[in-house]
Amino acid sequence: MQIEIKPIAQSRISEVDFDHLVFGRSFADHMLVADYADGAWQKVTIQPYGPLTYQPAMMSLHYGQAIFEGMKAYRSKQDEILVFRPEENFKRFNKSAVRMCMPEVPEEIFLGGLRQLLQMDKAWVPAKEGCSLYIRPFMFSTDEYVGVSPSTTYKFIIFLCPVGSYYAKPLRVRVETKYIRAAKGGVGFSKNAGNYGGSLFPTQEANKAGYDQIIWTDAATHQYVEEAGTMNLMFVVNGALVTAPTGDTILDGVTRKSVLQIAKDWGMKVEERPLSVKELVEGIQSGAVTEAFGAGTAAVIAPIQVIAFEGKDYELPARKESDFSSKVFHEINQIRLGEVADTRQWIWKV
Ligand code: COI
Repeated sequence: MQIEIKPIAQSRISEVDFDHLVFGRSFADHMLVADYADGAWQKVTIQPYGPLTYQPAMMSLHYGQAIFEGMKAYRSKQDEILVFRPEENFKRFNKSAVRMCMPEVPEEIFLGGLRQLLQMDKAWVPAKEGCSLYIRPFMFSTDEYVGVSPSTTYKFIIFLCPVGSYYAKPLRVRVETKYIRAAKGGVGFSKNAGNYGGSLFPTQEANKAGYDQIIWTDAATHQYVEEAGTMNLMFVVNGALVTAPTGDTILDGVTRKSVLQIAKDWGMKVEERPLSVKELVEGIQSGAVTEAFGAGTAAVIAPIQVIAFEGKDYELPARKESDFSSKVFHEINQIRLGEVADTRQWIWKV
């Protein structure tokens, strides 16, 4: 597919303070834009990042046909640009598309377009430790129509943000037993915008009570731990790595599956099974649960310090260098930066 290139007249890179990057507030010079109409992908362009104009009746604003992904690019010591497992995000994006009645994006646009975009904006990939270039592909419906039905036109866009860490410190999280994120038969496995919109109010309530995030529980009983909304959740219980099995309600996280694979390769016992809140809090009290952390692209590995349930705080042991979460964080970093052999073929060189 031919990509039309419209380069920016003057780069904005000198306006960005790369020593103090915050998550998601700075945007690289270019974005990729592809249009879908008449049953096919049409024009693809790489153009300056900037505003687009739409009609007030644009369907995605009303009925939520909007999906996204998140990936990261890193700069190696040899000055190569490396992306961590983008094929996995590409596959998941199209699963979300199918569930939301949206067209699938071909590989040559998603991955081929991303490669060209990163080649143009490679100066924006931070070199500083702990920083990366966050890649945000997304798609939304663009028909101007007020009836409820799948749109016939769509826009697929990829933009890039140089970022620092998403969570700066170990998290205090609260088990949510009133609101739900996802139910069987629903869209919890997909990365659609509404999943995130629906999480804002319960998260805000938890924030007001002094917690950073919530732990979602299953919709039917509120007895089992699901995910945290911005990341999957993992626990070390009696020395085994435990996480909720994927299905309708859990996002099939790329960091999640990478951590599970590394744990297996290291000979650790891995259990993808429902974990009850009861087992979790009793395990923290008895010492059976030694670690709790989130795993996600934005968050990477986010250690959890406190889990609150029914008004009581349960404190996890202080994080140590020898903990699994510290070691796996280090391992993933080494892989992403190209500092260890890529035996699992997770790295995509731009
Ligand atoms: C990601 O980890 O990429 C996410 O999608 C989480 C978030 C920033 C919404």
